[in-house]
Amino acid sequence: MIRTCGAADFEAIHDVINDAAEVYRNAIPADCWHEPYMAKDELRREMEAGVGFLGFVEDGALTGIMGLQDVQDVALIRHAYVLTSAQRQGIGGRLLTELLQAVERPVLVGTWAAATWAVRFYGKHGFTLVTPREKDRLLRKYWSIPDRQIETSVVLADAAWRDRRPA
Ligand SMILES: CC(C)(COP(=O)(O)OP(=O)(O)OC[C@H]1O[C@@H](n2cnc3c(N)ncnc32)[C@H](O)[C@@H]1OP(=O)(O)O)[C@@H](O)C(=O)NCCC(=O)NCCS
Repeated sequence: MIRTCGAADFEAIHDVINDAAEVYRNAIPADCWHEPYMAKDELRREMEAGVGFLGFVEDGALTGIMGLQDVQDVALIRHAYVLTSAQRQGIGGRLLTELLQAVERPVLVGTWAAATWAVRFYGKHGFTLVTPREKDRLLRKYWSIPDRQIETSVVLADAAWRDRRPA
């Protein structure tokens, strides 16, 4: 079952993120890894900044989460994580499909360049990589992340972004 997450899900969201993020440990640049991958304070700040989460619930437990944040004229997919033990069973795909149904603006998603599996995942759902130059511009415009993360990330865009009228 997919449902909107609320304040009561905070701990469970935090657990899902840090369990799923284990895959980053030996994949992303060593200086970008920290433990826990996402601290509670950071998650709290993200939610206060408007990241709303959908959750996938099985037998009463959260097994996957995906966040969405409206920023300026776009929607950003933020923090997409499925428990390690539950990955590649279609949960992320169902969350993404549900999330996109409610979105009426162009959608962008940023991820580590090293997360080739995530790039494949979004590619299956119609997202395409923007050019390196464009991703630097987009990450600076719509995200608040350190320079090092900009350097080591990629951005994918949906069809609405590709088809948008130039400003
Ligand atoms: C990315 C993620 C959210 C996708 O959720 P999911 O439930 O695993 O994805 P689905 O089962 O709906 O889709 C699976 C597809 O995604 C890609 N994929 C997901 N995990 C993969 C992995 N470990 N290895 C290779 N491909 C993977 C593949 O294209 C796969 O299709 P396939 O199984 O036919 O090859 C989840 O795998 C995850 O939490 N990964 C770790 C954290 C992460 O990278 N988050 C993205 C941050 S933006």
